[in-house]
Amino acid sequence: MTDAQLIDGKVFAARLRNTIADTVNWLGSEHNLVPGLAVLMVGDDPASQIYTRNKAKQSTAAGMTSLHEQLPTETSQVAVLKKIEALNNDLSINGILVQLPLPDQMDSDIVIDTIAPTKDVDGFHLLNAGRLVTGRNGLTPCTPQGCLILLKETLGDLEGANAVIVGRSNIVGKPIAQLLLRENCTVTVAHSRTRNLAELCRRADILVAAVGRPEMIRGGWIRPGAAVIDVGINRIVGPDNTTRLVGDVAFSEAVQIAGAITPVPGGVGPMTVACLLANCVRVTCQQHGLPEPELWPAT
Ligand code: GUN
Repeated sequence: MTDAQLIDGKVFAARLRNTIADTVNWLGSEHNLVPGLAVLMVGDDPASQIYTRNKAKQSTAAGMTSLHEQLPTETSQVAVLKKIEALNNDLSINGILVQLPLPDQMDSDIVIDTIAPTKDVDGFHLLNAGRLVTGRNGLTPCTPQGCLILLKETLGDLEGANAVIVGRSNIVGKPIAQLLLRENCTVTVAHSRTRNLAELCRRADILVAAVGRPEMIRGGWIRPGAAVIDVGINRIVGPDNTTRLVGDVAFSEAVQIAGAITPVPGGVGPMTVACLLANCVRVTCQQHGLPEPELWPAT
């Protein structure tokens, strides 16, 4: 059997970023508007530092303004809420993102729900989560949106496909389930207590791995020809003490069985940031009563 088609997230993300940069250019020249993104992190988690720096850097590269703030781990929740409220009221800021996870002394639900829903570019606010579940127009979480674009670009119409999602987080598993339901897939959400997980995965035309466990999904769990989207980014230490990034799927096994598969890195990751920029352009247009730009051709 030939190896699976590689779903190159870098290529699709670059295309999306180009369209975004053109739209940002148009907003500046026609409407004198520059989308502004605020990226807030609390603490010094090294992975979060890399992610937030990258988000701020890429928004600037697309012609937006970005405010990147890192607050000390011991910052109180009240101080974070005050900061968010100031950003909510700041007209130069169109989108606000608070990087997760937050330190233990904070209630992430309270923090997220303090972000103005109109500026919630992560789509995590209760109102946007509710809109997604009820099929209404709202802001969609970036990683799930990126996965959906990759799937539609690879498979075209998803109607009727059996989709199995391994992982039920609010950030990835649950929202991707909603997006795939909206595409008329038959969706199963599996998790750590699911029985006969391997057997369930083998029934999937579309398998989304979002569990955060390195290489947990083995080649033998994959239906021949299935599309596999690997959301995991796990850093593992090899026998020679070097570290490398692996996904939640055992790639070297899966690539021999799947029909199409995302690599790690270079699959879903680049799409997350591109979709964040897209959301930032969307909210800027919404806040100024402009029609929503077409940033991705409907496939
Ligand atoms: N932590 C892991 N993924 C994400 C994300 O997409 N957004 C935020 N804010 N935090 C995260």
